[in-house]
Amino acid sequence: PTTLKEAAQAKGRYFGGIMSSNSLNNPTATSLAAREFGVITPENEMKWDTSEPSPGNFNYGPGDRIQEWAAGKGMKVRGHTLVWYNPDVESQLPAWVKQLPLQQVRGAMENHVTQLVKHYKGKLLAWDVVNEPFNDDGSYRNSVFYQAMGKDYIAIALRAARAADPDVKLYLNDYNTEGDNSPKSNAMYNLAKQLKADGVPLDGIGLESHFEVGTVPSTIQSNMQRLTGLGLDVAVTEYDNRMQVKEKQNQTPVNPGDLNTQATETKNLVTACLNVARCVGMSQWAVGDADNWVPLFFPGSWGSATLFDVNYQPKPAYYAALNAFGGG
Ligand code: G3I
Repeated sequence: PTTLKEAAQAKGRYFGGIMSSNSLNNPTATSLAAREFGVITPENEMKWDTSEPSPGNFNYGPGDRIQEWAAGKGMKVRGHTLVWYNPDVESQLPAWVKQLPLQQVRGAMENHVTQLVKHYKGKLLAWDVVNEPFNDDGSYRNSVFYQAMGKDYIAIALRAARAADPDVKLYLNDYNTEGDNSPKSNAMYNLAKQLKADGVPLDGIGLESHFEVGTVPSTIQSNMQRLTGLGLDVAVTEYDNRMQVKEKQNQTPVNPGDLNTQATETKNLVTACLNVARCVGMSQWAVGDADNWVPLFFPGSWGSATLFDVNYQPKPAYYAALNAFGGG
């Protein structure tokens, strides 16, 4: 196999990336994605502010365009995301939800989950049902959902999703949960264990995997192992591995050696997934460096976080991943 898509498939895994409404208009990005990705996640287009901008007013157009484009190219789609509130990034949760009287939040959440899952029934591989439920210390984020229902909002959302589509895989997804020894990854493990014990429908855990070069945890494989030991799938859902760059335009690394560190860490991540039977695949959070969120969101100059450079050309990390999947 000569592409990540084919090499991963030959190992019974997938390699994927994201698509956005903007990138859909960029032929270089779409042809690269169609060649290298077997699974697509819409970057923002299925989130609550786009999909239900006002109560009961559902707007599926932007999400549909990405799903239909992917289906037309034979790619599968991960739905992202149904229930999310991270105050650090406002999470594209519309103001109307944040301002609801607390006793109306459960109904609004169940309706949102039900309508979206029904709309895409039979068309998606998986849904990130609840996104980023934890603070870094392992406590629950104080979202409107948590305020209204306590931690039960997670089980309630999962049950609503299962009722709307018995077949789509249901995930919880978070960052800083990749290694096996942080308070947050322990919190995710304990939550998953409790949900399984309670018979709540849950199929997998998404390890977002937003990393800084040189600091990727060495315990990802053992963490994947303990999670799959609960009878769950795991997936790397949003991989990127940022480094300091000279400026945001070309994203030239300050330390050229960082590209090799990034390649080694990418190889190790692929290898960890291949070593864990129920690690189903790995997606990066971009088509390439040109459209990755890192340069826009991090203060100072950070970038070069993905497998393709600002001109959508493969970087050392790309060849490292391809090799690790057994391609080349
Ligand atoms: O489209 C509007 C535009 O009309 C407006 O003028 C502009 C001004 O702020 O904002 C534009 O929307 C931005 C949107 O990206 C599209 O570019 C939002 O402000 C911005 O907040 C949003 O950021 C997204 C972020 O999630 C929001 O939380 C990023 O694109 C997206 O890559 C990022 O993805 C998240 C995953 O969903 C969850 N895990 C972490 C990951 C990275 O933060």
